[in-house]
Amino acid sequence: MRLGVCYYPEHWPEAWWPQDARQMGALGIRQVRIGEFCWSRVEPEPGRFEWGWLDRAVQVLADAGLHIVMCTPTATPPKWLVDQDPDMLAVGADGHARRFGSRRHYDFSSDRYLAQAERITRAFGERYGTHPAVVAWQTDNEYGCHDTVMSHSPQAVRRFRLWLQQRYGSVAELNRAWGNVFWSQEYASFDEVDSPAGTVTEPNPAHRLDFQRFASDEVLRFNRAQCAILRELSPGRTLVHNFMQLYTGFDHHAVAADLDVASWDSYPIGALEMFWFGEPDKRRWLRTGHPDFTAFHHDLYRGMSRQPLWVMEQQPGPVNWARWNPAPAPGMVRLWTWEAFAHGADVVSYFRWRQAPFGQEQMHAGLQTPDRQLDQGGREAATVAEEVASLAWLPAQTSGRAPVALVFDYESLWLLDVHPQGADYNGLQLVFEAYSALRSLGLDVDIVPPGTDLGDYRLVVLPAVPLVDDVLLDRLEATAAQVVLYPRAGSKLPGVRIPEELPPGRLRRLIDLRVPRVESLRPGVHESVHLGGGTFGASRWREALDLGPGTQAEACFADRTAAVARQGRTRYLAGWFDSALQQRVLERAAHDAGLETVRLPDGVRVRRRGELLFAFNYGQATHELRVPSARWVLGSGRLAPRGLGIARWQPA
Ligand code: GAL
Repeated sequence: MRLGVCYYPEHWPEAWWPQDARQMGALGIRQVRIGEFCWSRVEPEPGRFEWGWLDRAVQVLADAGLHIVMCTPTATPPKWLVDQDPDMLAVGADGHARRFGSRRHYDFSSDRYLAQAERITRAFGERYGTHPAVVAWQTDNEYGCHDTVMSHSPQAVRRFRLWLQQRYGSVAELNRAWGNVFWSQEYASFDEVDSPAGTVTEPNPAHRLDFQRFASDEVLRFNRAQCAILRELSPGRTLVHNFMQLYTGFDHHAVAADLDVASWDSYPIGALEMFWFGEPDKRRWLRTGHPDFTAFHHDLYRGMSRQPLWVMEQQPGPVNWARWNPAPAPGMVRLWTWEAFAHGADVVSYFRWRQAPFGQEQMHAGLQTPDRQLDQGGREAATVAEEVASLAWLPAQTSGRAPVALVFDYESLWLLDVHPQGADYNGLQLVFEAYSALRSLGLDVDIVPPGTDLGDYRLVVLPAVPLVDDVLLDRLEATAAQVVLYPRAGSKLPGVRIPEELPPGRLRRLIDLRVPRVESLRPGVHESVHLGGGTFGASRWREALDLGPGTQAEACFADRTAAVARQGRTRYLAGWFDSALQQRVLERAAHDAGLETVRLPDGVRVRRRGELLFAFNYGQATHELRVPSARWVLGSGRLAPRGLGIARWQPA
């Protein structure tokens, strides 16, 4: 368990660097990430490199015993490069090229920019690839940040056509797959196909989904090119990218397969403000973030990381980019850090060392204030470092397999984005809600790609998988786990088509039912659902089910039609259920799987890592957690607000 920090030597007088490095070490920081935005300082003019300052910065950090995560600086191509090659700018759906003046202005489809990115990556790799202090490389920075995966440039369209040609072989096949006979959308050649933008009304969803698939492959190509160079020039170093929170704009499973570590950037309070959470949640978790938010991402990224995941950027105080930017409650920076370790992270790295008094992020906190004093986040990082040191006697713990798998499929989520059928049908939100319901029952969850072998899991939950391929179907048939299918499971074929046998398509091999009709419901409409003597609710989405002879209704809507259908070990949910109902259904499935559950008090969460049990309290009241076999090694089962406890623990 190591702490790190993100540092920008180019922002500070060189005379400050040695003291910064010493203070980092004294605070318990072992790893420093540098370089991701420094291109204009390293190469101020085409081909003229100024390595001196960066060499010295690396040496100062290395001399202080710090490990360095070097970044490729490709997220911020400098002005001269843009002027030299304006075609490298991405083009928005409005047809306008992005302008220079912020960051991430490049086009993933620009071959010329790719060549530049390879050139600068090679230059960095040659310079620092074998430096003993450089232990890892971060490629670029947050692919997709500021909505930058898709470009509608001429080069993107040209490459999209090639991509389509490869996927479909003939334009006749493309026309068939997309259903282009509809509205006379048929093409006579691939050269006629454009990017799906600027149309009068919604373009064909198959067109949109393929453009999304294509754009995702462009990110893969870009990242892969950097990885190849770094593997060659910096052997044995860890390759990592910092993925984002609640972001699905490309297939992260595919990109992570080229890396060693999947890391992510954790801003729980900014995210609470900016994403779908309702007003009551925004107020309730204002200074803590949602209790399942960071855990969700740890479990997601652990599921695609070959080595233990990292948090590359951890919020240390108020951020600058949400509509409102409250400060984390005292204790939260410590809690988030420990929670990352609980979920299998090896490294938590704070963003950033010191708040910059200039530039776009001058209102973003760091571990230090601009006058070089330790801020609240810095003090809490120091506390964690001391606590980690005090537990050094514990044997290293790996996170084994959780009993519950939650299947996460990027393509399916794109499909739901492209084709929601109800304005608030947000697949990612539903995945998060299912996760949250499982976690509120004290269950550990692995968030896994659809190709994962499900054999060792006891419970498998599929909250958002309209697309079910052969592999996933085989895996579901092969496991003995309880399976919970959420609405719309298996409802589409890859070309965005309704399956011939109607939804859930081939999933009927698991549960014999047919979905002849679905409806989406505007906000404020609630349908009652009766389950086991209790009445719960559904909103947003409701399906009518025709049950086959072997399938029973376990819960019903008020009109006595099935809300939960069950056959053997498979359940199917016919609506977007409220959280209490999701919890009840998943609790039943868990019990059928032989799993023990506990309805945790408000805001309390637990997680096992090897023989350790971690408990966290996001809530506002103190809770006493009774775990008979627990021997507390940090804190106790008495969890004050924002408190935590760590125990050695023997499962019953
Ligand atoms: C991240 C980004 C950082 C910084 C940070 C601010 O998205 O990677 O460079 O902008 O947000 O919270």
